[in-house]
Amino acid sequence: MEHCLILTVMAAAFVVLLSLASVECDSSLGRLSSSRKADPESRKLATEVRATITARSQQNDNTPLTHFTVITYKTQTVGDSGVNYFVKIQVNDSTDKGYVHAKIFRGQDGSARLDNLLTGRSDTDPIQAF
Ligand SMILES: *[C@@H]1O[C@H](CO)[C@@H](O)[C@H](O)[C@H]1NC(C)=O
Repeated sequence: MEHCLILTVMAAAFVVLLSLASVECDSSLGRLSSSRKADPESRKLATEVRATITARSQQNDNTPLTHFTVITYKTQTVGDSGVNYFVKIQVNDSTDKGYVHAKIFRGQDGSARLDNLLTGRSDTDPIQAF
């Protein structure tokens, strides 16, 4: 009987710890900022991963990129390790498909990494976390 009680208490404690841990994880990702216009900082970041974006979008859509123009972006802090940038980039002349959304991580150490890419976006598609 005593065993059962101890096990129950341990299981309950475990559940509480698990839920604390998941709250902890969520809080390391900040909310998305409001949308900002392209600026030197976002253009520089996009340029650093341009080759990866070009390769990945050609893989997805099999069409060459004729533009590489940063339009707008949003940011999101990632704990104390860096910042996610969600960047809308125009890659060709098509109004309804000529944009990509690139998720680029800028580490505290200054490194840049493409984490995800959505192709075939329109000029009006809002930037959302992905
Ligand atoms: C523009 O790029 C998109 C990918 O984002 C592609 O689906 C579309 O076919 C391209 N349009 C032209 C005219 O190249």
